[in-house]
Amino acid sequence: MKEFLTPRQIVAELDKYIIGQEDAKKNVAIALRNRWRRMAAPSEIQQEIVPNNILMIGSTGVGKTEIARRLAGIADAPFTKVEASKFTEVGYVGRDVESMVRDLVEQSVNMVRSQKQQAVKEKAMEAVEEVILDALIPPMRGGSNFSSTTADEPKNDHELNERTRERFREKIRNGELEDRKIEITVTQNPASGIGVAAPGMDEASMIGLQDMLGSMMPKKTRKRKLTIAEARKVLLEEEAAKLIDMEEVKEEAIRRAENTGIIFIDEIDKIAVSSAKGGGPDVSREGVQRDLLPIVEGSSVATKHGTIKTDHILFVAAGAFHLSKPSDLIPELQGRFPIRVELVDLTEDDFYQILSEPKNALTKQYEALLKAESVELSFQDAALKRLAEIAFRVNSEIENIGARRLNTVVSKLLNDILFDVPDVIGANAKIVITAEMVDERLGDMVQDRDLSQYIL
Ligand SMILES: Nc1ncnc2c1ncn2[C@@H]1O[C@H](COP(=O)(O)OP(=O)(O)OP(=O)(O)O)[C@@H](O)[C@H]1O
Ligand SMILES: [Mg+2]
Repeated sequence: MKEFLTPRQIVAELDKYIIGQEDAKKNVAIALRNRWRRMAAPSEIQQEIVPNNILMIGSTGVGKTEIARRLAGIADAPFTKVEASKFTEVGYVGRDVESMVRDLVEQSVNMVRSQKQQAVKEKAMEAVEEVILDALIPPMRGGSNFSSTTADEPKNDHELNERTRERFREKIRNGELEDRKIEITVTQNPASGIGVAAPGMDEASMIGLQDMLGSMMPKKTRKRKLTIAEARKVLLEEEAAKLIDMEEVKEEAIRRAENTGIIFIDEIDKIAVSSAKGGGPDVSREGVQRDLLPIVEGSSVATKHGTIKTDHILFVAAGAFHLSKPSDLIPELQGRFPIRVELVDLTEDDFYQILSEPKNALTKQYEALLKAESVELSFQDAALKRLAEIAFRVNSEIENIGARRLNTVVSKLLNDILFDVPDVIGANAKIVITAEMVDERLGDMVQDRDLSQYIL
């Protein structure tokens, strides 16, 4: 198994994007590392070690989804993120909860396939070169086969053909013919375009049927005229596919998804039935929770790539729990998420850091946007402090939408500038945002509650 990040390294990686929320980062890092630890454990105990699923709780806009997104990049494992509110109970129209496991397997198959493709890439490239060459200068079939001993003069057509081919092979390799059009035969995926839908049929059987019909249809081939550059891409895919054993890929993918897969269930609070609401339990939401149970607890799910056991998949759930509480989830489900981490509300100082520090910080995004117009945008430290202060104040006075408030505040601040570039503010201009500018543009709005309610 290749190098796997240690818990501290995982946190360091998350730190590049997420400010604060140490507790959440730490627990997520432990859970991730535990996956690796389990795989290294003796096989008798391996089966017994169950993942400690995590429930992240925190108000809106404090980084729950952001952590999930960044985790996906770090995990180097099949990862899928779903929104609990999208699911409907089995038997009703809509996505059933098992589809999240199917998504995970799909993800895993893609991952394994592209790794295998990488491994056979060189071989596939050679094959592709041959196909392209054949399309350019078709080889001569039959004919006399004796070769000449004197290299200069071709003895016959056959040899002339060979020489021409070698010359073009050079040119192809040097990229001299990238724009030249050639005609190649490509196979079309027969499964695409067949839609199957029947009332009362769930998604799994629908996909199954689709696949079955697809494989029954003869594979269609089609001639296409493409430039060599384009043809190379198309052909590489085909040639690589020929070199890969798909059955092996599927097996490996299922194994990986079973042992290292992570499913992130966002907005889980949306399926909790609020006790405060009254009017009896919401049957359909509770139904979704009940459907979730066996998956989280461990069961077998049929996918088009094979059957997968969900026992060791790690589940991370997150929700704001504004209108409901974790205790509004059915008790069985609560028990399946033993690790609770609370994400704290962000402070003014957090806002200040979020504005400038993360790799994808808002200020960096706008700087990059204006750079495209050759305008240099920069923010003075005092301006960032003022922005953070304003965002924090609007949050506490009107509605707390967390770090998302920074988006509205900054976009309001820069609106005029974004409009004036490049017509009024030309290329090579330097714009420095100062605290005074922030006050000037946003000050009134913050003072006036009614105004800020609509604008910020
Ligand atoms: N701790 C943080 N560090 C850096 N950026 C953050 C942080 N929290 C939130 N953000 C920014 O705010 C945006 C919204 O955060 P996110 O999507 O994670 O909210 P959430 O916690 O999932 O809220 P919701 O409950 O509404 O889904 C993110 O895109 C991110 O840019
Ligand atoms: Mg979210």
